[in-house]
Amino acid sequence: MHIGITGVSGFLGRQIVQVARSHGHVVTGFSRRIAAPVSGCASVRLFGPEMDMNGIEGVIHLAGEPILGLWTTEKRNKILRSRANGTRWVVDAIERTSRKPSALVSASGAGIYGNRADETLTESSSTGRSSFLAEVGAAWETEGSKAQAAGVRYVPIRIALALGKGGGAMKLMEPVFRFGFGGKLGTGKQWMSWIHVADVAELFLHALENASVSGPLNGSSPNPVRNEEFTKIMGEILKRPTFLAVPEFVLKTMLRDEASLVLDSQRIIPENALRTGFRFRFPDLRSALTDVLGTPGGPERRTANDER
Ligand SMILES: NC(=O)c1ccc[n+]([C@@H]2O[C@H](COP(=O)([O-])OP(=O)(O)OC[C@H]3O[C@@H](n4cnc5c(N)ncnc54)[C@H](OP(=O)(O)O)[C@@H]3O)[C@@H](O)[C@H]2O)c1
Repeated sequence: MHIGITGVSGFLGRQIVQVARSHGHVVTGFSRRIAAPVSGCASVRLFGPEMDMNGIEGVIHLAGEPILGLWTTEKRNKILRSRANGTRWVVDAIERTSRKPSALVSASGAGIYGNRADETLTESSSTGRSSFLAEVGAAWETEGSKAQAAGVRYVPIRIALALGKGGGAMKLMEPVFRFGFGGKLGTGKQWMSWIHVADVAELFLHALENASVSGPLNGSSPNPVRNEEFTKIMGEILKRPTFLAVPEFVLKTMLRDEASLVLDSQRIIPENALRTGFRFRFPDLRSALTDVLGTPGGPERRTANDER
């Protein structure tokens, strides 16, 4: 299949290109900067309102302003607008082509569920209402779902915390834990939903290649953990202490609304992925973090993330 991938130069895009190629597909990347070549892409086209989807048989849409970074008013606008407008550009481009791609598989975020304490969340659970990321997720999926009017199968993947070497949240977390400053955040009782980046990439291909997959997929491992357990396992793998807990009021004072990224509780189960036969390579946190962080004290292991 000839696959078009937006946001192809990013942390997830780079992984997905390699997995798509290993499945025998040809990839055209879409980027705001066509001059910058992306490893594994046969060609790169411009991402924007005039983007050209001709010849593309399946679309993976990842582009968007990074969520991490200080949430000033300007940053919030960029996060929201880049997803609503960007997804509209993709759907408009699909509508303009005479031969439509078979599917649009788009990134969405686990943040769409909001803050849900101990509730078990599947794709049939209601989405959240009162948080910024729930608002972003809703806007993103509303625009993406319009592809269905053009007869295109639409699958939003509600990605949880993606764990991979040197990218995403791990880029911030790993040095903190390696220096011995890791610790539980707030009460540590909040549920963290996570997924290994190798499983994210395979899940996008699973959604694209299987015509029976339609509607939202939770992009999270089947085994979410509480923040205190995540912290303990990180410390054990890195052989570092993790007793420096950060109280909730400190996080809220320092980060304001952005504290929701680490304090909100989401116990997400990937029901639709499992029901449609997806097999996770890293279903439990210890195996995922051992792969990402390498074996402590030993030579740096080759990880799934190095396969690029
Ligand atoms: N990583 C995670 O843990 C995670 C979790 C949940 C959801 N997601 C979502 O999955 C998608 C991909 O994640 P990622 O970690 O690969 O993100 P990333 O590394 O930040 O890459 C996103 C790509 O989007 C493009 N981009 C950046 N700012 C943009 C803007 N203002 N407007 C339009 N395009 C912009 C860039 O590509 P070009 O410069 O080539 O145009 C960039 O490489 C994102 O939408 C993200 O929100 C990720």
